[in-house]
Amino acid sequence: QSGKFTYDPGFTSTASCQSAITYIDGGEGVLLHRGYPIDQLAEHSTFMEVAYLLLHGDLPKKNELDKFSKTITYHTMVHEQLVHFFRGFRRDAHPMSVMCGVVGALSAFYHDSTDITDPTQRLIASHRLIAKMPTIAAMAHKYSLGQPFLYPQNDLSYTGNFLRMTFGVPAEPYEVNPVIERAMDRIFILHADHEQNASTSTVRLAGSSGANPFACIAAGIACLWGPAHGGANEAALNMLREIGDVKNIKTYVERAKDKNDPFRLMGFGHRVYKNYDPRAKVMQQTAEEVLKELNLTDPVLDVARELEHIALNDDYFVEKKLYPNVDFYSGIILNAIGFPTEMFTALFALARTTGWVAQWNEMISDPEQKIGRPRQLYVGATQRDYVPMDER
Ligand code: SDX
Repeated sequence: QSGKFTYDPGFTSTASCQSAITYIDGGEGVLLHRGYPIDQLAEHSTFMEVAYLLLHGDLPKKNELDKFSKTITYHTMVHEQLVHFFRGFRRDAHPMSVMCGVVGALSAFYHDSTDITDPTQRLIASHRLIAKMPTIAAMAHKYSLGQPFLYPQNDLSYTGNFLRMTFGVPAEPYEVNPVIERAMDRIFILHADHEQNASTSTVRLAGSSGANPFACIAAGIACLWGPAHGGANEAALNMLREIGDVKNIKTYVERAKDKNDPFRLMGFGHRVYKNYDPRAKVMQQTAEEVLKELNLTDPVLDVARELEHIALNDDYFVEKKLYPNVDFYSGIILNAIGFPTEMFTALFALARTTGWVAQWNEMISDPEQKIGRPRQLYVGATQRDYVPMDER
């Protein structure tokens, strides 16, 4: 019993773990981080504040947030040797392949100084990961362009720093647009954590063996890349562009309903939400704000709105309880801000690192935790004797 929530013993027995970080009610479309509703956090909070909340369990006082933000800022630079890891990739390597490789390589720099049985060293590793992800993601983008890397600037916010490292160039000063900074910060909040999704479960399973947190987060990045998971934001925008015009929507909706057609509406449906993903609502509002601020019209937004309207009124989608999820509108915003579609999932990984490290810390600090060992239902051959080659 905690607050108004009660535990269903049946569910607990099948749950993969017990956690106090994020609560989802898929039927009601509820998402709480440490008890706070996602729409309130998206409206009133900053990503740094949410990162503190996820990691430490409660909203920080001003002095706590200032100290936390400063600590993160002072970890944003990466070791100069790390730059060489980028040189090994082709310029057209997908940013998620770069993120997987480079974040995994962080183990080589911090493995020896990360005794995961020491809470202080666990926290430092968490700060390093949260702080360095924007720098590495920006470097992945710059590398693909053949442009020079920009060092972090400590007088900028977490998100402002990321925007400057991504879009700035050494040849001229970069002015952070406060509306874009706020929108980007909100997108990071909406992607920060989401209970035991596939990539978070990957991080927990890897961490349960005692692997160092940098390797665990690299495993989470690999899992997030899949189009059924974090790769859906890139796939959703590509799908909306392929539909191209509202007059083509019906055809695609029929294809999505055809069991013989592997096509699915990207950005729709969810393993847990059987109601509107509360993050998708905030994302749609943010899309309208950003396009207005940038004085942009994007025909893809009209397609998205009409597709949502048609799908939400189509018996198939209503019966299967398929609603837009966090990935349906995010690509429209990221595209408007200037990110190439290949960077979308890298941005998801950047933000989700905060949830991953919070969940990793929660698991590792539990003295009762044991190595994960998912069980299987064996449906293979019963025992039989070996058959010599000439009798096969
Ligand atoms: C994320 O777990 C998380 O929390 C993930 C995430 C997070 O923050 O970490 O929320 C982020 O990954 C969001 C999901 C992004 N993926 C997509 O948008 C890809 C498109 N969506 C589908 O691939 C699908 O909806 C899944 C993978 C998300 C869920 O698939 P399931 O488990 O099959 O969904 P379901 O059981 O609820 O499906 C019910 C039915 C199925 O048909 P039947 O087998 O019952 O006949 O609906 C069908 C599905 O085939 N269906 C779809 C559909 N999604 C499900 N049909 C058409 N289009 C779709 N998008």
